[in-house]
Amino acid sequence: VKALVPSGGTGSRLRPITHTSAKQLIPVANKPILDYVLRDIVAAGVTDIGIVTGDTGAEIEAFAGDGARWGARVSYLPQDAPRGLAHTVLIARDYLGDEPFIMYLGDNILRDGVAAFVREFERERPAAQILTVRVADPRRYGNVEMDGDRVARLVEKPQEPQSALALAGVYLFDARVHDAVRAIQPSARGELEITEAIQWLVDRGEPVRAVEAEGWWKDTGRVEDLLDANRLVLESTEASVRGDVDEASSVTGAVVVEPGARIENSTLRGPLCVGAGTVVRDSFVGPFTSIGPNCVVEDSELEHSVILEGCRLTGVQRLEDSLLGRDVVVERTDRKPKSYRLVVGDHGEVGIV
Ligand code: DAU
Repeated sequence: VKALVPSGGTGSRLRPITHTSAKQLIPVANKPILDYVLRDIVAAGVTDIGIVTGDTGAEIEAFAGDGARWGARVSYLPQDAPRGLAHTVLIARDYLGDEPFIMYLGDNILRDGVAAFVREFERERPAAQILTVRVADPRRYGNVEMDGDRVARLVEKPQEPQSALALAGVYLFDARVHDAVRAIQPSARGELEITEAIQWLVDRGEPVRAVEAEGWWKDTGRVEDLLDANRLVLESTEASVRGDVDEASSVTGAVVVEPGARIENSTLRGPLCVGAGTVVRDSFVGPFTSIGPNCVVEDSELEHSVILEGCRLTGVQRLEDSLLGRDVVVERTDRKPKSYRLVVGDHGEVGIV
């Protein structure tokens, strides 16, 4: 079994963060999403991994390199534009050969990994195996209709979903999928949809299995989902304080303080993590917060937020449900502000509550 990891695309729903960087590299609990994806794949015993890249390819390559860090061999498959997930299979034809493969979207994150999912495929050897999850709003995903335990229909982001089952971004295929991706036409949104390729297999009577995920699953395409993924990962993180925490500080719950970080006169209530080289001074950091490396947090309160590396927060009372990109400065010098001065990227959102 090989692996295909689509990591191109534009990440338009995570702007302005993704104006300057790949959405697959946004950190969850201070590790890029793609890191979880690669670890899961290798843990399932799959070590030949092809990463599909787009405009942000250089950044993805700088991060994943040759894959040795995960015990994998990583190859790069550049895609000229995001022409659809079935198109990523089309351009990977030579790389994949006739081997079965797992396709794991580079912006998805799963509690339980994919080892059991791969074992099940190897046992049953269907043409395709999909992973489903019950969700509150199936209109945002590929929608799966079952007929007993048979997959009957797949529809990409339907206006009127016929079931509560979403298609998670993890799929297993054998070589039969190559005929399917060659046979289908671009959809109304102009993409070669993987859902349509799978439907093509279903329509030809090829065996397509669906497995329902037991643990949580997140597609990190939107800010709310990313914060949720951060919360879920932190919930199962164990405490590890390797940086300096002074006497005047108090630390409770699952708190990770990386080496070289300094906590001074502050309260940290986990689960949360603080990256290497970051200083937290005279502040409160509440649950479900990830502060990246080399940040300075002073005289501030924050919780349920993801702060990327190099940010500086001063006098911010208080920050919640927020996502800050790299090197963002949030400063408040006057306790009762007369006015706010904000410099925010395109499509940014500012909530003053
Ligand atoms: O996350 C699950 C959902 O993923 C499924 O329920 C949908 O059926 C499936 O179409 C997909 O929907 P999204 O709209 O979330 O896909 P997105 O465009 O965000 O792309 C997912 C990943 O694949 C992302 O890492 C970018 C990459 N990608 C996407 C396309 C369309 C590529 O590398 N090339 C592409 O052409």
